Amino acid sequence: MPICIHRKGAALLSLLLASHTFGAAPAGGTEPSAEADFRFSCSSCHGEDGRGAGAKTFGLSVAPPDLTMLSARNNNGRFPREKLRRVIDGREDIRNHVDREMPVWGQIFQMDADEGFGGADAVSSTVRQRIERLIDFIETLQR
Ligand code: HEC
Repeated sequence: MPICIHRKGAALLSLLLASHTFGAAPAGGTEPSAEADFRFSCSSCHGEDGRGAGAKTFGLSVAPPDLTMLSARNNNGRFPREKLRRVIDGREDIRNHVDREMPVWGQIFQMDADEGFGGADAVSSTVRQRIERLIDFIETLQR
């Protein structure tokens, strides 16, 4: 069973931020390409190719799903863009007290935006745009 987000989430978040914000992030408002962002933020769990089995999957109570089969697994065979917006952002899950192993990217990207990473102007639209671009990239991975 997933563990309560308030405890585990905080530990994971600080761990991520240690490597994320102060790591290899491009400095000073440069926007990363969606592919670079995916490699940087997502591949540790979902794998470089999006098929799961990244290096950090060990110890998670839920295995990171294969992100290349999202259309194929969807009932109508379409790419579930709407759902991905909610899942990746994750802030709705916190408000609704939904357990998740996935980091809450809406929050992390917000912090990045506050520090001027990923384009400083309209902060909430920056977060949205970054998520949209990641979704576009994930769409290209579908098989
Ligand atoms: C710490 C490991 C981890 C990282 C890093 C991570 N994810 Fe996830 N992701 C998961 C897990 C585990 C799930 C399964 C749902 C859950 O338990 O939260 C998931 C679920 C998802 C889903 C839902 C897939 C489905 O089948 O519905 C999407 C989409 C997704 N992640 C995208 C991303 C993106 C984009 C990034 C980078 C910005 C990312 N993930 C980074 C662990 C991770």
